[in-house]
Amino acid sequence: MDIEVGEELNRDLFGKDFKWGVSTAAYQIEGAHDADGKGSSIWDIYTERKKKILNGHHGKIACDFYNRYKEDISLLKDLNIPNLRLSTSWSRIMPSGTGPINHKGIDFYNRIIDTSLENGIEPWLTLYHWDLPHALEQKGGWTNRDIISWFAEYTEICAKHFGDRVKHWMVMNEPMVFTGAGYFLGVHAPGRTGANNFLPAVHHTVLSISEGGRILKDLLPAAEIGTTFSCSFIQPYTNRPKDVNAANRIDALLNRMFIEPILGMGYPENDLSFLKKISKYMRPGDEDKMAFDFDFIGVQNYTREIVKNSYLTPYVQASLVKAKDRGVPYTSMGWEVYPESIYEMIRKFNEYKNIKKIYITENGAAFPDHLIDGKVNDTQRTKYIQENLKQVLRARNEGMSAEGYFVWTLTDNFEWSEGYHPRFGLVHVDFETQQRTIKSSGHWYSDFLSGQNDQTKSDLNLEKSNLISSNASRS
Ligand code: NOJ
Repeated sequence: MDIEVGEELNRDLFGKDFKWGVSTAAYQIEGAHDADGKGSSIWDIYTERKKKILNGHHGKIACDFYNRYKEDISLLKDLNIPNLRLSTSWSRIMPSGTGPINHKGIDFYNRIIDTSLENGIEPWLTLYHWDLPHALEQKGGWTNRDIISWFAEYTEICAKHFGDRVKHWMVMNEPMVFTGAGYFLGVHAPGRTGANNFLPAVHHTVLSISEGGRILKDLLPAAEIGTTFSCSFIQPYTNRPKDVNAANRIDALLNRMFIEPILGMGYPENDLSFLKKISKYMRPGDEDKMAFDFDFIGVQNYTREIVKNSYLTPYVQASLVKAKDRGVPYTSMGWEVYPESIYEMIRKFNEYKNIKKIYITENGAAFPDHLIDGKVNDTQRTKYIQENLKQVLRARNEGMSAEGYFVWTLTDNFEWSEGYHPRFGLVHVDFETQQRTIKSSGHWYSDFLSGQNDQTKSDLNLEKSNLISSNASRS
């Protein structure tokens, strides 16, 4: 279904307090991997391992945001985007993970925060978006219970240095993805595998999320404190009990394993029995410590998953049926395009009684983009965002909480084990020259946010942004 933008979908329908933005993450954009005293993170190390990242890509330079942040923030301003979600790199701030602070790292984030505010853009800070200091990984990383106090120390430093200006905080980004991919499957940094790594990593992450929340609330009582979760709408492949039960197990794993202990409900071990093994890592009092009453929860959704029973898959006895094999539309990540998924996830999170507020802190899509005559006509991405926004609106109109929407992401960037191949940005990046070109989706978002969707405004913006892109590439 095509949307007549301006008729069916316009910014006003979401209300004036709705938060619009884009999301980014340090390792995916900053580059400058060893500049000004930064320590190595697990991603600096992991990307050096052979055959781990598609085409041997790495984040040493990435989008060079470390040096080009001014241009990128002015792009944001030009695109009428009022909120920027970004993360701090722990090893840039504390090269060894604990102990001495790297003041040049602090200065960098101060510059970003100040430049954003000067441009009328509100910075939203995530403390941990997967780039653990390598020095801490050498001590066991998330499998070592001491990480709770290491993370507390880092959280406190960030709160003290940035809390006077940053009003929206997220403790962590998508814990299921970094523990699952990094500590169970070994396809993300640090590349550990198996339940003996995964289960302690999960438990220490949960305890660190709640501890981080308590520290931020204590030091910054006036700030809005949240944390973010990945989620996918899960449906069984058939209505046979085996597939339905398999879908329940995957739902417990992908959607419930982190949020429920944080809400004081414990791990969903009745629906996923191997989680009972977490008790091995539990200490007296942990049950209470796991819970924290966040001001908001960031919901991050991209797709749905279809699940079938599979006796051969250890621990979960379930497997995902790929979009490609189902003959449905999918993105460059192989993820099904299924906009109703975001509505279903907003509904599911709204059903938890003690969630106060929900923001959609990530949603977006990677499609093969083509830069032709200085333009990227990415109609699929624009349509994806529009269709997802309609679902967010549907949820809001039914009285659910969904108080903001952040597109993943501003510029094409380093997509973890997929390297630079999947392009998620509203802005195209030529990684040879660092030239930025606003895609037609970026122009659409900009016009949508300014409340003017007519063609004249689009053309004007295009001229203006081409000017900005060429200035940016010269700097
Ligand atoms: C989730 C992650 O937070 C982000 O780092 C990633 O690039 C996007 N989704 C797309 O996969």
